[in-house]
Amino acid sequence: MMRLLRTPLLIINLKNYLEASGNATIDLAVTAESVARDTGVEIALAPPSPFLSELAKAVELPILAQHLDIAGPGSTTGSLVPEIVQTAGIAGSLINHSEHRITRNEIREIIQRLDKLEMNSILCAQDQNEISELSKLLPTMVAIEPPDLIGSGVAISKAKPDLVSDCITAAHGSDSTATVICGAGIISGQDVKAALQLGAQGVLVASGIVKNKDWRKIIEEMVSPMRFFELP
Ligand code: G3P
Repeated sequence: MMRLLRTPLLIINLKNYLEASGNATIDLAVTAESVARDTGVEIALAPPSPFLSELAKAVELPILAQHLDIAGPGSTTGSLVPEIVQTAGIAGSLINHSEHRITRNEIREIIQRLDKLEMNSILCAQDQNEISELSKLLPTMVAIEPPDLIGSGVAISKAKPDLVSDCITAAHGSDSTATVICGAGIISGQDVKAALQLGAQGVLVASGIVKNKDWRKIIEEMVSPMRFFELP
């Protein structure tokens, strides 16, 4: 049985950045693992698909797929199948990321399959309407990411604080225990702190870490506000 992700949480999405591919994928994972150990903060990694299994063996951090298909086990060449991914020790998946959107029916099916497999489902949404609709599908957590701020270096928690608060209210409308995290443009510890102060229980970060020259320093900086943070 996989364990549920703890909060506060930092998810590092490596996307398909060349800076974190090849041997660098392991380097980043080992660095993140060492910071997680030193600080006690939960850090999960979403590497490119070819590195899922290798990372799950190399580090003790929860490893997440960036996307899964609804194809089932068996004669489904080329698909990323939840039941197969689980056998590689993967803890869950991002679903419906802005860069890989899927249909409502696909979202519903993937959440149900991951639930049955006791894997984490991190469902991404772009605004509060989507959050309120998609939260009803009861993923492990919902992640709000406005597409215009992704990769911008302008943090959601500073540029759109009302969006974060409105999404938390919307998610709690369907399930008062819903876990909400946010991402897009987060590049500093201050951005993370602002997200937590708005009520987010974690953040999703990609370019702000992957493209930083000093991975240890930036990961330490980002988890620092999470260390002693009392979640509401
Ligand atoms: O999944 C995280 C992501 O979309 C945010 O990207 O580069 O703005 O941290 P970035």
